[in-house]
Amino acid sequence: MTGRRPTPVIIDCDTGVDDALALLFAVRHPGLDLRAVGCVAGNTDVDQVVRNTLTVLEQAGAGEVPVARGAERPLIEPPRHAHHVHGADGMGDLRLPAPARRPAGVDAVALLRHEILACDRPVTLIPTAPLTNIALLLRTHPEVTRNIERIVFMGGAVATGNATAVAEFNVWHDPEAAAIVLTAGVPVTMYGLDVFQRVTVPAPDVRRLRESAEPGARLAGRLLAHRGPVTTEEDPAGGLGDAGAVCSVADPDGLTTHRLPVEVNLAPGPARGQTVVDRRPRPGEAELHGEMREQRLVDVALDIDAERYAALYLATVEGRTPSPGSGPS
Ligand code: BDR
Ligand code: CA
Repeated sequence: MTGRRPTPVIIDCDTGVDDALALLFAVRHPGLDLRAVGCVAGNTDVDQVVRNTLTVLEQAGAGEVPVARGAERPLIEPPRHAHHVHGADGMGDLRLPAPARRPAGVDAVALLRHEILACDRPVTLIPTAPLTNIALLLRTHPEVTRNIERIVFMGGAVATGNATAVAEFNVWHDPEAAAIVLTAGVPVTMYGLDVFQRVTVPAPDVRRLRESAEPGARLAGRLLAHRGPVTTEEDPAGGLGDAGAVCSVADPDGLTTHRLPVEVNLAPGPARGQTVVDRRPRPGEAELHGEMREQRLVDVALDIDAERYAALYLATVEGRTPSPGSGPS
């Protein structure tokens, strides 16, 4: 990374235990320049998401990053939280202090528009939440696409879902928003469940982080150690979750993607919210019989160097990642 300027990024999140891990990484990686954070309803209600996000940034020593409140519900669906995974406060009920500052005086769509257009280089958007804010942004201010490098979103699944048998939570929560983002004409990378679940930080490292005297690293350890009450396994290792998507922006070589047609299933019923990924090597009978569908190509993550990202995460939150320009990494 010799001589490279940090990549300007914006995170849109529903903080959220693993969104918090993503924020902690983003503000500490020297190759990333976190310009703003948007908040959206998802894991918990949007006002709690705002509080959680502000607290995390303060604990990480990044209290100056602008944060804005966004959509309080999906475009069509009602909001459906994930407190059984993330705790009643969306942050593992760790009894963290309330934030000292308030969010920006504008909504998330206005903040994101401003930050994208004001940046002197194209910005990478990293949504780690339902895509409501990003869909509203792209529909309200389509001119932002001229200064978006790409969108790397955590969401979707090639194989198994989590919210339903086939749908991943972020896409299931607001399928119409996901469909808008995938068809907006911006390069999109899908960091889906297939890779999301694979990156874990080993238990001894989690323990070391929890015992750190430094607040940001200590918070990362407490978040990694969090287990929702429905989780029964004893494994004390901690999953990176959303933070893996941010690792893949800082270090793209650890992620294997294939450019594939992807379509969000918007029909009512058991497959609503599924990301249908076409991995067939050749056209099938449907196409041969004239049933062509227009599908956008998405860079779909199919494999990941999990150990590489776990090591990168640790080095970054513990302040051991070399700065751009300080020599080969
Ligand atoms: C996604 O859902 C949320 O619970 C997590 O924060 C993550 O963004 C995983 O399906
Ligand atoms: Ca999330």
